[in-house]
Amino acid sequence: MAPSKKAGKKLGGLLSSVTASSGGGDGGKAKVTKADWSEGFKKKKSAGVPDMTLLSTITNEAINENIKQRFNNQEIYTYIAHVLISVNPFRDLGIYTPDTLASYRGKNRLEMTPHVFAVAEAAYYKMNNEKENQCVIISGESGAGKTEAAKRIMQYIAAVSAAEEAQGGSGIEGIREMVLATNPLLESFGCAKTLRNDNSSRHGKYLEIMFNGMGQPVGAQITNYLLEKNRVVGQIRDERDFHIFYQFTKGASAEQKEAFGLQGPDAYAYTSRSGCLGVKSIDDVSDFHETLRAMQVIGLSADEQNSIFRVLATILWLGNVDFVEGDDGNAKISDTGVTDFAAYLMSVEGGVLGKVLLNRTMETQRGGRRGSVYEVPQNVAQANSGRDALAKALYNNLFEWIVSRVNVSMAPKAATEYVIGVLDIYGFEIFQDNSFEQLCINYVNEKLQQIFIELTLKAEQEEYVNEQIKWTPIKFFDNAVVCELIEGKRPAGIFATLNDATATAHADPSAADNSFIQRSQMLSANPNFEPRGNKFLIKHYAGDVLYNIPGMTDKNKDTLVKDILDLIEGSKDPFLQSLFPDKVDQSSKKRPPTAGDKIKQSANDLVTNLMRCQPHYIRTIKPNQNRSPSEYDDKAILHQIKYLGLQENIRVRRAGFAYRAEFSKMIQRFYLLSPSTSYAGDYIWQGDDRSGCERILTDAKISKDEWQMGVTKAFIKNPETLFYLEGERDRYWHTMASRIQRAWRAHVRRKHEAATRIQRFWRSQKETLVYARKRDYGHEVLAGRKERRRFSLLGMRKFYGDYLDVGGNSPAGGLLRNAAGISGNERVDFSSRGELLVTKFGRSSKLSPRFIIVSDKAVYFVVTTQKDGQVSTTLDRKIPIASIRTIAMTNLRDDFVAFNIPPCEEGDPIFTCALKTEMMCAILTITGGSTTVAIGPTITYAKKKDKQATIKAVKNEAVSGDGQYKSSTITVGSGESPSSVSAAQPPRKPKVKKAAKAAPAGMAGRATNRPTAVVLPGASRPSAPPAVANGTSTTASALKPPAAPVAAAAAASGTARVAPSIPGKARAAPPAPPPPPPSQPAAPAKEMYKALYAFAGQEGEMNLVKGELVEVKQKDDNGWWMITKNGSEGWAPSNYLKLVESAPPPPPPAARRPPPPPASNGTSAAPSAFSAARAAAASGTSSPASSRPTSMIGASGKAAPPAPKPKPSIPAKPSVGAKPAGMGLGAPIPPSAPAAPTAPGTGAKPAMPGRPPVPSAARPAPAGGPAKVGAVQKPAGLSGQLDLAAA
Ligand SMILES: Nc1ncnc2c1ncn2[C@@H]1O[C@H](COP(=O)(O)OP(=O)(O)OP(=O)(O)O)[C@@H](O)[C@H]1O
Ligand SMILES: [Mg+2]
Repeated sequence: MAPSKKAGKKLGGLLSSVTASSGGGDGGKAKVTKADWSEGFKKKKSAGVPDMTLLSTITNEAINENIKQRFNNQEIYTYIAHVLISVNPFRDLGIYTPDTLASYRGKNRLEMTPHVFAVAEAAYYKMNNEKENQCVIISGESGAGKTEAAKRIMQYIAAVSAAEEAQGGSGIEGIREMVLATNPLLESFGCAKTLRNDNSSRHGKYLEIMFNGMGQPVGAQITNYLLEKNRVVGQIRDERDFHIFYQFTKGASAEQKEAFGLQGPDAYAYTSRSGCLGVKSIDDVSDFHETLRAMQVIGLSADEQNSIFRVLATILWLGNVDFVEGDDGNAKISDTGVTDFAAYLMSVEGGVLGKVLLNRTMETQRGGRRGSVYEVPQNVAQANSGRDALAKALYNNLFEWIVSRVNVSMAPKAATEYVIGVLDIYGFEIFQDNSFEQLCINYVNEKLQQIFIELTLKAEQEEYVNEQIKWTPIKFFDNAVVCELIEGKRPAGIFATLNDATATAHADPSAADNSFIQRSQMLSANPNFEPRGNKFLIKHYAGDVLYNIPGMTDKNKDTLVKDILDLIEGSKDPFLQSLFPDKVDQSSKKRPPTAGDKIKQSANDLVTNLMRCQPHYIRTIKPNQNRSPSEYDDKAILHQIKYLGLQENIRVRRAGFAYRAEFSKMIQRFYLLSPSTSYAGDYIWQGDDRSGCERILTDAKISKDEWQMGVTKAFIKNPETLFYLEGERDRYWHTMASRIQRAWRAHVRRKHEAATRIQRFWRSQKETLVYARKRDYGHEVLAGRKERRRFSLLGMRKFYGDYLDVGGNSPAGGLLRNAAGISGNERVDFSSRGELLVTKFGRSSKLSPRFIIVSDKAVYFVVTTQKDGQVSTTLDRKIPIASIRTIAMTNLRDDFVAFNIPPCEEGDPIFTCALKTEMMCAILTITGGSTTVAIGPTITYAKKKDKQATIKAVKNEAVSGDGQYKSSTITVGSGESPSSVSAAQPPRKPKVKKAAKAAPAGMAGRATNRPTAVVLPGASRPSAPPAVANGTSTTASALKPPAAPVAAAAAASGTARVAPSIPGKARAAPPAPPPPPPSQPAAPAKEMYKALYAFAGQEGEMNLVKGELVEVKQKDDNGWWMITKNGSEGWAPSNYLKLVESAPPPPPPAARRPPPPPASNGTSAAPSAFSAARAAAASGTSSPASSRPTSMIGASGKAAPPAPKPKPSIPAKPSVGAKPAGMGLGAPIPPSAPAAPTAPGTGAKPAMPGRPPVPSAARPAPAGGPAKVGAVQKPAGLSGQLDLAAA
């Protein structure tokens, strides 16, 4: 199943844009999502540029600087377009975790930061989607990380192909595991510790993983190149043989040790002479088990494994065959026990092996015909050389056998559709002494460079042609001429010349070398070749290399002497024979292929192979020679940068245009930059992609010579232009973020203000609700029947009820209570002053001052009288509530009230009370509304028992005040209309300031005219939002007008008696009176904040002047505080403000007088605080007088000092019509993971039946010591030479 691509999601910012047109899994039309504002947050702070095509200055130094910055920032990967540059970090950066791997899965390489996983993903994705073979070519010097990179590629492909299978596919069981197992197996046999790398690959490897059409691995194949066989027989100091020798000698089982006479690595010349038996970073024993496990995974049988270890043991023992010079000057074996044991391991006669090692069969040739055959004894050096040749051949062929065996196991089990190849081969080598090996290695590198040029540089330039872009072609060094110099046939190149020289000089290597020297003169016609005596120089693409000719023809001949081949052919070990499949053809006259022929063949095969693939390049760089994770060796890296040709790479890439992207991708990245293509983050361009790109670039004010439109892509010339576009894009998000912040702050402020308003409103309502109900009840009861006094229509008044505190604790109230004889469980609901119409016999009735008290039981009229200079307050009259049948009043504004009670001698009381409506409501609440209220032009009452009388009310505008009474007639001026409603409640505090605008001016207008968003190029259109239902259905109900208030019943005319409903009928008790307004606390000291810096705010924000003091009104967690300054409010960054230490707070205010204990009577309607306040008020310490009507007590309305003693005089009669300014009692009256041949002689080890004793392994002298006769020679010019490249 082809993986899906979520292209378009850009995380890598600049990177993504830069390489938008190059390789990497970006094939196919990508779907594009809306630009992601949060990308800025996901971006890791990157050092330098992630793609060096964006470097402003293209010099090796600039490249070095960029790589350095990134290395220091732990960014080891950098692109040059689709070429990945990787610097060895020499430490675990934690960047190959399953999570990281997963994060690259399915992503366009361009979306992510440079990574080897991105290259692997690009290869895998392209294979699946573009149906093409892929190859990853990894190059770089020893220790730069090629093998590691190859392993990561394999890791990635194994993981993702497994994931694909998990999604329903079925790969070939075990292929993935085998592919991964080839790593430890081939590393054990093909890698060795060198001075430059503890795990240096001593061969080149090309691994091809084969996939079926579903992207699942079905097989794999490994092609091996140039194993460094010289290493088997010797290494320079501190280097080691191939890892497997150490693993085997250290980790072999007891049976293996017994069977192969195995001892430690220090017992064998080949493994010990270099003086390095162990490596700090390597655990040979554990690696051995890992090798065994890998052999198992790959399917090597126990016999096969045993045969492999037998060959390894043979090589080790051969290394210990020591030659000494005999009297005849010929070599002789110093200890035949060793040869016999080695022969035993080889399944040949011990004598035969010794003979082969000491003699060489020669055949004379005459005129091309075979002559006589005779044996030539060898001297010690020749014998050593013959022995080593055998060892090397054994190892080399063993290695090749292993590779082919692995290939048998991994042979594709199903049809192969595509292949992904991973090439991990030696990098270019320049040593102090360069020989045939370097020539071969460097030749292969030249071939690879050719591919690079062909596929990268030429391809790049072809793109410009295809896109019809005008550009100036760039010259680059085409190394085809060097390849021809080495491999050419006509004229003959170096390999052909070497072959000719090798064929002419038969047994004498030096004669052949000389022949080459002469012939090579012919090569000097090539400008890249210079003969220099017994050396020659080649000008490679990566630098000039001087090669030593001595020994070269012999290495090129690369054939084992016939005696050795005959020896092996005579072995009884089929495995050993199978290692040398090319039987000695005694009659053949045909020259066997030389090493040069072989390498040429395999290099060309490789090239042919690679050319069939889409290439991906990884160029590795080694930052230092010390394996240090922190050292960055500028000089060494500069050298690598030069020979890797990074600069040319960038130049060609940049020659034309630094950036190119398909139109759709360009749009997706930059559409935000033009108002014609973007509105509020949505893509709105209606035209084609090409015109969209043009519009964007034009609107972004990019000059026309900076960009060109190709056929499918847009090209931008300089990186600076791209940087600018990227910068503008970032700025866009920044600006949007600022706007959002501003709007948010305004929203928060508005929210707070709204909350404050609501709270304030509620508080005021809570307080006044009770009063408003009382007031409205009054209106209800009067039912528009009586003209009103203005005071009765106030927007707000506190209906305290017990104005005289008769139910409270004030002395004055107590006095009245006592006087009235009100019991402790009796509740006082109303008390006020009034005047009772007193009839005196024979005289006209007269109004006389009274204290009117309404309790839940009765209405009391208390009178204060003075008699003989003695003031006394006494109950004048008590009328049980139940007895009041009717409360009669006139329809005019006068204050007259009469209670119709059962007949009695005193008749019905008729009196005046300015708060008569409140009083009347109190009585109705007590009686459950059973008392009738009669309102009419006249009041009928019983003047005396059985004597009804009528008082009529008459208007007379001439009469001031609340009217006059005379002769059963009340004369009063016009009042407010009977249908009058109370005035609107007055605002308690000044209006709050209007909240900051939620959106800047003009936004609202844009919203209504906003363009329609269009689907971004390649993106799928989002589904439409659900259609809005019939516009009228859902909201209709909400639009209904609020229910009309229930109209009060129309008042019947005349004297109709209306029984009024009770307010809050469920309530048993009358509404509790609100607490009295607290006394004003001492104002806390204001916290002042000092502006640490100046701040220039924007809309809704407050400017700060450094040093000024401001007050913080509200602290938000988002870092912004609302401050006030000079009367205005605005937001300011909190970190700009510092609290100013203030002076100690002022002393606490004097304690208030504790409130009195709650009233013992549960029915008490008055909270104690209220009572306390009233008490205080009564004592004259507090004066909540503003909302209390005055005048009910003192006619003057003026608070009078506490009166220890009430004045003996009866307060003056409130003047009718006088606005009661405060009903308080401030008034002067009353008051809060074999068997064998013949046994040789003796041995140190217990001999196995039929097998020679294990000779005691000579402890070879270390390499650095005096050269032992016959000692292993230091291999010329291969391993371990000073790597000039790295020096
Ligand atoms: N990406 C990496 N992360 C961490 N360590 C690394 C990385 N690449 C390489 N190394 C370290 O560097 C060592 C050398 O790397 P590697 O063996 O891949 O080099 P090489 O290029 O294959 O060299 P040679 O040509 O000698 O085979 C590794 O064993 C490992 O310790
Ligand atoms: Mg390697």
